[in-house]
Amino acid sequence: MINIIFLGPPGSGKGTQALDLANFLSVPTISTGEALRKEVEAESDVGLMAKNYMSSGKLVPDEVVVNIIKNRISNSDCNNGFIVDGFPRNLSQAIVFDKMMEKLGRKVNAAINFTANDETLIKRISGRFSCKNCGAVYNSYFKPTKKAEVCDNCESNQFQSRNDDNEVTVRERLKFYQESAEDLIGYYEKKNLIYSVDALKSVPFIFEELKKIVQELQK
Ligand code: AP5
Repeated sequence: MINIIFLGPPGSGKGTQALDLANFLSVPTISTGEALRKEVEAESDVGLMAKNYMSSGKLVPDEVVVNIIKNRISNSDCNNGFIVDGFPRNLSQAIVFDKMMEKLGRKVNAAINFTANDETLIKRISGRFSCKNCGAVYNSYFKPTKKAEVCDNCESNQFQSRNDDNEVTVRERLKFYQESAEDLIGYYEKKNLIYSVDALKSVPFIFEELKKIVQELQK
């Protein structure tokens, strides 16, 4: 069983790599951002509450995301491990998460820290779009569709962008990330769980690095 968390600023490629690595390990990916976007779309109580935080780039209150994670990691599909993308986001979430894991008789095996500079992150985020039908993620600068305006995956021609993917909100998201990153990374450093990856490298290069880390952990 292997339980991995992905840390790193917005646009550093956590979601992209989480899907590939989860496939490789045959474990689920848990993304608090994705779960919250579903709640917003469904206009649930959680979604209505989270919407303003998300569209202004702020963190959603801890109790909301902690609840999402708590419900999700106790599902049977997580029995062989999981990859969490976007949680914990601050020290208090990390501490609560450890307690939650301890109760389940589990622990975090690695905290992968994606590093990149702000200007690249802003460019990546402003170029991001996804297929409305199947959710495949593209990037107008770095990963365009093979055929103009046709999804490589399902051939739909309907695309969408996240409403927090504009430069003003991204700068806010980066600011909030910086506020808690040092404490969060320090917490996992003390536990010897931090593995850093250079998020400026290509998607396949980073994936190979992640596979090496995982293979080391599995020895
Ligand atoms: P969330 O959805 O988690 O967003 P984020 O952390 O800001 O991260 P992103 O999804 O923007 O980026 P990513 O690192 O996954 O990059 P991706 O792989 O997509 O959170 C959204 C909001 O929800 C938060 O702001 C907050 O309000 C709330 N929230 C979520 N979790 C929370 C928590 N725990 N506590 C409180 N609030 C929470 O890649 C980005 C783009 O770059 C893509 O287009 C991709 O194709 C491209 N790309 C990826 N890798 C590369 C590469 N190596 N080279 C070139 N292009 C690349």
